[in-house]
Amino acid sequence: MAITKVKSLKGEITVPGDKSISHRGVMFGAISDGITELNGFLDGADCRSTISCFRAMGIDISQEKDHVIIHGKGLHGLNAPANMLDVGNSGTTTRLISGILAGQPFVSSLNGDASIQKRPMGRIITPLSEMGAYIRSLKDNGCAPLEMGGKQLHSIHYDSPVASAQVKSCVLLAGLYADGITSVTEPVVSRNHTELMLSGFGADIKSEGLTASIVGNPKLLGQKIAVPGDISSAAYFIAAGLICDNADLLIKNVNTNPTRAGIIKVAKDMGGKLELLNERIVSGEPVADIHVCTSSLHGCEISGDIIPTLIDELPVIAVMASAATGTTIIKDAAELKVKESDRIATVTENLKAMGADVTATDDGMIIVGGKELQGTTIKTYKDHRIAMAFAVAGLIANGKTDFDDEKCPVISYPNFFETLNRLLS
Ligand code: S3P
Repeated sequence: MAITKVKSLKGEITVPGDKSISHRGVMFGAISDGITELNGFLDGADCRSTISCFRAMGIDISQEKDHVIIHGKGLHGLNAPANMLDVGNSGTTTRLISGILAGQPFVSSLNGDASIQKRPMGRIITPLSEMGAYIRSLKDNGCAPLEMGGKQLHSIHYDSPVASAQVKSCVLLAGLYADGITSVTEPVVSRNHTELMLSGFGADIKSEGLTASIVGNPKLLGQKIAVPGDISSAAYFIAAGLICDNADLLIKNVNTNPTRAGIIKVAKDMGGKLELLNERIVSGEPVADIHVCTSSLHGCEISGDIIPTLIDELPVIAVMASAATGTTIIKDAAELKVKESDRIATVTENLKAMGADVTATDDGMIIVGGKELQGTTIKTYKDHRIAMAFAVAGLIANGKTDFDDEKCPVISYPNFFETLNRLLS
């Protein structure tokens, strides 16, 4: 797959189902009574890892592309898995499933790929241990492989040091198995899909400001859920539509939950021509069609409370910044260092290789836009979002852009290159 500069980029697309919502649909369906049906499920490697973990615990799940049926067995219906669960590359699977596994009467263990084995799990080990869980990093390095379960949990209030929906969701899911009310306060509100969806399944769950709380031992009932398109996948086409010449794109059916939609505000702050059409609520989540076209972008500062709402989009926002006039400063985003790759390092390395003016900082980067980009071979570090962000950069670069691993979008967007190619023709 080689990308070259495009003359125009036009068309109408849909993007695959939201990854966060797809994971949660499978997990919550598995621990509910009755059938859960997901339409628009993300058939990517990460969400398949979640399905296979629950199948390994005796849950009957049928999957035909983006249509998934889960035969839930209730809060206490999981069987002990015969082997170590394989979470693949998925941080969401690892951290959310740990909240469920910690509350089971059996001990289980999980592990994933080389990237997962480097990602910090102390952030879930600490609150789960406070709840009375047995949970241990088997190599004593605060990372997977993890072993957990077999103890009765008790409710806690947890002041999370990080704004992380994975940590918040892990504690709330463990709270399902604890007596009383479990609550989590975050420094800044992170994505709230767990709160919205678990409430739909019948949990007594509330959010007030920075705190989410859940009452233990509810009766959860299977649901029918329409999974909207993932704004993190739409982000590549939003960025491409803004920075390519002669671009006009309509991206249909995208989740625009305010706890996820920071890229829309940033695109507008940078002078982007972007509008939301046909705004509606689907399965409790805000959804819209997004129309973007070629724009003259200028730099801006991206910091503070908006960061968790666009954390996964920062690689492609950095690409937008390199195509903008003036300076963009990204701050308060140290979490980028603990994603599928160290995204401060991997974004700056690749942008520099393309000729951009970018400086890595401790909690972000500074990009001086306007330098002409040159094609190169992108070092993906097997990170799906690095490959796709730099495919967008390749659309405005001179020469050819290719990838040391072009398969990694399979994690969240298996047909990314096909969709992109369709818009080029
Ligand atoms: C996710 C939360 C975010 C995000 C990840 C998905 C989720 O991670 O980066 O891609 O589905 O809860 P953190 O909770 O670590 O910020």
